[in-house]
Amino acid sequence: MADKLFKPRGTQDFLPPMSDTLELIKAKIADTFRSLGYHLIETPIFEHTELFLRLGEATDIVQKEMYTFKDRKGRSLTLRPEITAPVVRALLEANLHKTSDLKRFYYIGPIFRYEKPQKGRYRQAHQFGIEVLGSSSPFIDFEVISVAMKVYESFGLKDLKVSLNSIGCKVCRPRYREALLEYLSGKVHELCDDCKVRYKRNPLRVLDCKVDRDKLRDAPKPIDYLCDDCRAHFNHLKGLLDKAGVPYEVDHHLVRGLDYYNRTVFEIRANLAGKYLELAGGGRYDYLAQEIGADEEVPGCGFAGGLERLYMILEEAGALPERSVPLVVVLPLSERARENFVAIFRELRPKKVISVAWDLNLRKGLRYANRLGADEVIFFGDRELEKGIAVIRDMKTGDQREIQFRDLKAYLESG
Ligand code: HAM
Repeated sequence: MADKLFKPRGTQDFLPPMSDTLELIKAKIADTFRSLGYHLIETPIFEHTELFLRLGEATDIVQKEMYTFKDRKGRSLTLRPEITAPVVRALLEANLHKTSDLKRFYYIGPIFRYEKPQKGRYRQAHQFGIEVLGSSSPFIDFEVISVAMKVYESFGLKDLKVSLNSIGCKVCRPRYREALLEYLSGKVHELCDDCKVRYKRNPLRVLDCKVDRDKLRDAPKPIDYLCDDCRAHFNHLKGLLDKAGVPYEVDHHLVRGLDYYNRTVFEIRANLAGKYLELAGGGRYDYLAQEIGADEEVPGCGFAGGLERLYMILEEAGALPERSVPLVVVLPLSERARENFVAIFRELRPKKVISVAWDLNLRKGLRYANRLGADEVIFFGDRELEKGIAVIRDMKTGDQREIQFRDLKAYLESG
């Protein structure tokens, strides 16, 4: 195959059995969200580039990572690098923000970022997440962090670290920014090349630079500059997390890579082979709707987690979910057996997973069933049909028993 026809760098094909496991993972995540009152929202994979410029002209995502292209009419479109801005755009476009009810959305889908591919970092990745719109109450921040934790806990993951910070609001952040700039001004020459640029464009981002972090230990902390409202919000949130027993650590350097956040920012990490891997991130974004064009403030809070990273951590923990419905391989072994089975197949509404091997003999059929990890094989040839039976073979024990052929359909349809 010509190299050009291989998948593009930083993308993945999900093939069985991984693709099957990912389906189970996504279903479990959706169950958690749905059971807590969240509704599925699906937005287009591409949007007008303008929308994503609202993520912050100085962010890495906008500066370096967007897949932007012109369509045939010369309009600039961008493959979504994240899903929060599209959700807010969709809400405003449908005028849903005009009703006072709280809006709770969830999504699971692909995002695109032109990043340097490495383990756990792809150019097409998949995010699951929630967005709650219409309230600035700290109870919502609490809910979002708790729901994020519930997703990971639903898979039995335990060793999770929640980092939390507050980065203030329009009132208090400028004061903090000034203090930080002053502190950094004497250190610019020591910073990494990226941070030299960030210092000018987006000084807050210097704070959580992985390279320079240690050099900036004594940097001014955002929480020391919070206005009264932001401080009260942050203290209330911490109190709620304490009360509910959500373990967290305040990380004074956490600012996150998107510009729309105010007040709460948080990340969830897990230990992967001795290193902490960022699984999810989120926070509050009370100004985003207005930046997208709302004529009033529509406060919001949400999080998104990476599906591939969840898979990695589950794999390492030996906690990948397994299919819970039995898999049965049906082997009609003769022409007459196959013909007898077509009407059953046509009518069949199975609760089990049924895979029919139409053209394998018993030996090859059993091998096929083994490869699939089947629980049972049901076979019948001319000899069995003479007796009006089919044989059920338990693939774990090798035990075989007979079933009346006329009961086969009901058996395959039973749970
Ligand atoms: P983010 O931190 O940019 O936040 O992405 C959230 C999660 O998506 C990351 O923690 C990571 O697990 C996963 N992720 C991001 N980029 C990649 C990639 N290139 N490869 C693999 N995984 C990746 C957001 O996108 C915000 N929209 C989150 C949010 C929702 N804030 C409020 N609501």
